[in-house]
Amino acid sequence: MVQLSLPKNSKVSAGKTWPAVSNTGTAPTRLKTFKVYRYDPENGKNPYWDTYELNLDECGPMVLDALFKIKNEVDPTLAFRRSCREGVCGSCAMNIGGRNTLACTKAIADVAGQDITISPLPHLPVVRDLVPDLSNFYKQYASIEPWLHTSTALPTEEYTQTIEDRDKLDGYYECILCASCSTSCPSYWWNGDRYLGPAALLQAYRWLVDSRDDATEERLEKLDDPFKLYRCHTIMNCANVCPKGLNPAKAIADVKRMMVERA
Ligand code: SF4
Ligand code: FES
Repeated sequence: MVQLSLPKNSKVSAGKTWPAVSNTGTAPTRLKTFKVYRYDPENGKNPYWDTYELNLDECGPMVLDALFKIKNEVDPTLAFRRSCREGVCGSCAMNIGGRNTLACTKAIADVAGQDITISPLPHLPVVRDLVPDLSNFYKQYASIEPWLHTSTALPTEEYTQTIEDRDKLDGYYECILCASCSTSCPSYWWNGDRYLGPAALLQAYRWLVDSRDDATEERLEKLDDPFKLYRCHTIMNCANVCPKGLNPAKAIADVKRMMVERA
């Protein structure tokens, strides 16, 4: 019988509990518990869950506010990414309460349960704590060549489109490359080295339907691969979690349709 064993550092243990402190000196009345994944690959220790109790009366409404409060007032060693705080940059994507989403647009009140678990995006190497290594994700994005390919003469002012052609980009150009979709996809978990995943394929479709782009055939040729495109099994986790309300599964289906039509 095959003997399978997990890597030694895959076991997550309990960490430290940080009780709530009050800035005003009064006893906290609205307590919330945050269980946060902690890991530093350089110290040789296994990951662990640290528990932070926060007084919500002294905390902003979003999960990112809670992380800032922990980092600024409780434990400055906690690492996480963020930039815009407005759901625009995609850098604060993480798994909150078992679901990939953006910490800056997720209200604490909207996460079910008394304890809120926060961990990095799943199935990626961890750089530290809540910071995943997105190198492969960006490499795959670069592979679809996300820029305009045109063989026609450069316009003197700007490329124009009809209103109908511009409308074809809706539902795709809004993608902020947060990676929530790709890292919620079981097919990407298993074949992330060869399957491009929902985010890169949605972006590929965005360029395939751009009326200003002249490289449709070349783009399709590059995607015509059993792993790059056809590992999508329409599981639909991608559309379920996308914090911008996009539907990568539909984009992938449309790329497959374009493949059939070109054959
Ligand atoms: S499609 Fe949605 S979930 Fe996927 S990377 Fe773009 S914004 Fe994030
Ligand atoms: S901080 Fe930019 S999307 Fe959350």
